[in-house]
Amino acid sequence: MCGIVGYAGGSQAAPIILDALEKLEYRGYDSAGIAVARGGALTVKKSKGRLKVLRGLTDDGASINGTTGIGHTRWATHGEPSDVNSHPHLSLSGKIAVVHNGIIENYIELRRFLTSHGYSFVTETDTEVISQMIDFFYAGDSLSAVRNAVRHFEGSYAIGILFADEPDKIIAVCKDSPLIVGIGDGENFIASDVTAILKHTRRIFRMCEQEIAVIERSNIDVYNAYGERIEKEPIFVTWDANAAEKGGYEHFMIKEIVEQPDVIRKTASPRIKNGQVELGLKNITDDDIRSFNKIYIVGCGSAYHVGKVGRQIIERFANIPVTVELASEFRYDNPFVDSSTLTIVISQSGETMDTLYALKEARKRGSRVISIVNVVGSTIASESEDVVYTWAGPEIAVATTKAYTAQLIVLYLTALYFGQVRACASQADIDSAIKQIERLPEVVGELIESREQVQYLASLYFNSKDIFFIGRNIDYALALEGSLKLKEISYIHSEAYAAGELKHGTISLIEDGTLVIALCTYAPLRDKMISNIREVKARGAVVIALARCGDTAVAEAADHVIYMPEWEQLTMPSLTIVPLQLFAYYVASLKGCDIDKPRNLAKSVTVE
Ligand code: F6R
Repeated sequence: MCGIVGYAGGSQAAPIILDALEKLEYRGYDSAGIAVARGGALTVKKSKGRLKVLRGLTDDGASINGTTGIGHTRWATHGEPSDVNSHPHLSLSGKIAVVHNGIIENYIELRRFLTSHGYSFVTETDTEVISQMIDFFYAGDSLSAVRNAVRHFEGSYAIGILFADEPDKIIAVCKDSPLIVGIGDGENFIASDVTAILKHTRRIFRMCEQEIAVIERSNIDVYNAYGERIEKEPIFVTWDANAAEKGGYEHFMIKEIVEQPDVIRKTASPRIKNGQVELGLKNITDDDIRSFNKIYIVGCGSAYHVGKVGRQIIERFANIPVTVELASEFRYDNPFVDSSTLTIVISQSGETMDTLYALKEARKRGSRVISIVNVVGSTIASESEDVVYTWAGPEIAVATTKAYTAQLIVLYLTALYFGQVRACASQADIDSAIKQIERLPEVVGELIESREQVQYLASLYFNSKDIFFIGRNIDYALALEGSLKLKEISYIHSEAYAAGELKHGTISLIEDGTLVIALCTYAPLRDKMISNIREVKARGAVVIALARCGDTAVAEAADHVIYMPEWEQLTMPSLTIVPLQLFAYYVASLKGCDIDKPRNLAKSVTVE
């Protein structure tokens, strides 16, 4: 959601900012803008629509001269997507420009205050109060104006500010919304995430709550909430810059699906040593793990779905009850967590606001917290007691694939590690699980290679109006993810149901020709699934079944069958998910959808 970029250096700022904003497109946006400072004035260009409109307005950045500037991609919250509501927003004086990610919750009150002091507003946004409040306090010292203004802001924000009268600096400040500072050679940056500036620098630091940074070409000063100058320890980002490029694939989504074998290897292998799993926890000890009496797993969307798969495996190996909750519900649910509870927080971006607040709620109630996160140094990672990183690399497509797969691997490893420590898993079971995990990259790779059948089935059914996914136990958890993947990128209405639940209402939705995707890979309940296939077929459904290798009974009951390779139950979800991802991808592709950037969606959901 909303992307911020800032550049202070020796080159023409606008082309660098436009290029960096393109790298943030995947976060989702509906308008874009740029401001550059030069010779005591600010030049602002902004427009509704894609970045190519802004490129056209600025001759690819060549027509705006100046070496310090800020840019923004906006995902509308307050005020419709329009030229005027796009950022940057100027103060009434035209001397201060602001880009903002987040929501200023008390903006109506601040508008009233500013109006009573002669200010007027041209946009419907909450952001405009930021530039005006800074202007209100500005008396020649940008830093103290920003410091005074932010004291009055309630809500969440990452802000980049440019002053016409101090044209060589950007001021940055944030609270509950991510912002990083990139340290270059004779040039420095701010950005919402590292992919925007990876081309220029890998040395970054993350801004923390209430810190203010003053960024100039050859100097960066950071101040804490008390106004004291502080030192920030930069981290070095190892992500491969090419990983954030399409590398010959038509879409990031298919590239990221294909990368999954490698992601599994990178996530698993550093954590398996001498036949044992090591999670590398620093603060949560083995004694703590033995003392927990329950686990909560919280996340949003796909991260929640992966938690539902993880629950079954952790309960089995670690013999501990696990509850999986949507992060947005957990926070307001009065959850029964205390110091003997472990909360596992799952997030690819590490910035999802609902998940972050769920984490804070868990900690407030005394729960211990481990997060499973993809983005190193992200807010959720920093706020957790321990973090287990998924080494999936940058995930650009809005619909997650490889990060989900990596989260699944970390959940297997967590189950095994807890099973070891709590002495409730036999060494034989652990050995077998490790062997499976070590072979997964090869088998997942083969499954991806042989994707023509899924592509063919997609070509038969891409015009469907409604598609139902059904499954039981772990297959139900996977059905939830398969259905989400399909609907978010293809815009086909889709539902996932626990197959046993159909007869309690849903079956009335099945009519002649309705496509039902039946997941039958969970062996203990496969007979029940065959009955459920018969139930929907009797009402006219067409069924594609996902079945275990050679399961002819499922094949006979369904219209089409996709066979999984011969495989053990425990890690079967890592295989079952692949045809579901591919089916969604090919259906969306045949429908000509904007696969990597589906409408209304954002990669990093930093508002509640
Ligand atoms: C769906 C998808 C979303 C995310 C959710 C949480 O394909 O990607 O449902 O899983 O928005 O995002 P993170 O994992 O960044 O917290």
